Amino acid sequence: MTTNEVIDLLNHARVLELVAITQYMNHYYRVKGSTYEEAQEIFKSAAMMEMKHAEVLAERINLLGGDPLSDLNKVMQHYGKALSFPDDVNEMMKVDLSLEHTAINEYTSAIAKVANTDPVTRRLFEEILEVEEGHADSFASYLGEKAAFELQEFKKYQAAA
Ligand SMILES: [Fe+2]
Ligand SMILES: [Fe+2]
Repeated sequence: MTTNEVIDLLNHARVLELVAITQYMNHYYRVKGSTYEEAQEIFKSAAMMEMKHAEVLAERINLLGGDPLSDLNKVMQHYGKALSFPDDVNEMMKVDLSLEHTAINEYTSAIAKVANTDPVTRRLFEEILEVEEGHADSFASYLGEKAAFELQEFKKYQAAA
């Protein structure tokens, strides 16, 4: 991989983080009342972690000489679809779990791609991936789902790397 390709991977990850921040914070603000304290905490704490991820990705991009994507118009263009703002708390959890699945798959793929060329970025992606798995588990647990995600995707990405 070239440095520019690594920067593109980092920016691609940043898009997912910026989308997650906006979507989760919207959900956090819109579930009101003591009945939803658990849900509020899940949305808020996940969003705060995504902010940290967006920041460390930007720092890595800067260090590699790239420009962190931060223009929201460009971010949404890159994301290519609308954010999900359902009214029902379970629907919120479902769309957020889906976003975490996307993140888990993208980070898993990115780790395989940079594995042999950029060990620092690889470690960064691995650290973030571990947190995303925790988020998936939080959303899935709220919904009463036993497994937050499946590992079979990893083999697919390994084969493609
Ligand atoms: Fe994240
Ligand atoms: Fe996450």
